[in-house]
Amino acid sequence: MDLAIKTTGLTKRYGSLVALAPLDLEVFSGEILGYLGPNGAGKTTTIRAILGLIKPTAGGSEIFGINSQANKVEAHRRLAYVPGESVLWPSLTGAETLHLLAQVHGQIDAKYQVELVERFDFDPSKKVRTYSKGNRQKVNLIAALATRADLLIMDEPTTGLDPIMEQAFKQCVLEAKVNGQTVFLSSHILEEVEALCDRVAILRAGKLVELGTLAEMRHLSAVTIRATFYNEPPHLENLQGVSNVTVTGHQLTCQVRGSIEPLFKELVAAHPKTLLSSEPSLEELFLSLYGKEEVTNQEIRQ
Ligand SMILES: Nc1ncnc2c1ncn2[C@@H]1O[C@H](COP(=O)(O)OP(=O)(O)OP(=O)(O)O)[C@@H](O)[C@H]1O
Ligand SMILES: [Mg+2]
Repeated sequence: MDLAIKTTGLTKRYGSLVALAPLDLEVFSGEILGYLGPNGAGKTTTIRAILGLIKPTAGGSEIFGINSQANKVEAHRRLAYVPGESVLWPSLTGAETLHLLAQVHGQIDAKYQVELVERFDFDPSKKVRTYSKGNRQKVNLIAALATRADLLIMDEPTTGLDPIMEQAFKQCVLEAKVNGQTVFLSSHILEEVEALCDRVAILRAGKLVELGTLAEMRHLSAVTIRATFYNEPPHLENLQGVSNVTVTGHQLTCQVRGSIEPLFKELVAAHPKTLLSSEPSLEELFLSLYGKEEVTNQEIRQ
């Protein structure tokens, strides 16, 4: 499969701080990759290093096989970038800014740009200094999307957008995928990543800790079971793979990893009234990676 991005041992240190530990990452052509991590995890550092905006301490990256540090200009022809913190020209209007950004990129789909201006409900006639945060973000998004570049690299692109505009953004990203474009999307909004991304990469303190499809990642985490009983819920402390058991009155919740058969046998034997099992959401997966340790083999009765 063709690669849109390939990093090899890409590393960035600031003195003793390792902002990005050696990163080997492959982004397939045509996929939407979600790039997640808490504040300071190294997402922006990765993007800026791939784009050649900062010099990696070690390693390097390729964009469609082009060395993106050595041949920056050539690599940038294939991509459009939505920065996390953008600096626009305050005295230009929105339209002038879009025109200028289009010139910088070289070519854009002018018809699509007009459509995007409408879809994002953007008024390009005002000066940039008068735009709200969300409207400034729209300038960057419209400019990037209108290029129809083979690769879109977006650093928290929906910052400042209201929910309706966030929907418009999602639609555009899905269309970009249908159009064969690749999207590298750094985000804090897990629902957005869950809705859009084919694969998800998770960074923690500069290190890649998970990479895969959501389905693959769900295997790593526990399934949540909620049950109510006619009588007292069963005691499950010693069951293999069962954790975080909480009992409130006739209601029981717990988590299970691996086979659910032994747990189900116990639950059914205790005559459940209702039984619900749910897969972890990306948010739960994320929190289980960063949050507190699970309470194992310990039951809380309230
Ligand atoms: N120019 C710099 N000098 C020193 N340290 C830096 C510099 N730029 C980034 N860092 C540090 O590198 C680490 C990674 O920062 P980065 O901006 O990549 O995180 P991020 O994942 O994008 O976070 P956020 O979600 O807040 O945008 C942080 O600890 C940050 O303080
Ligand atoms: Mg960032």
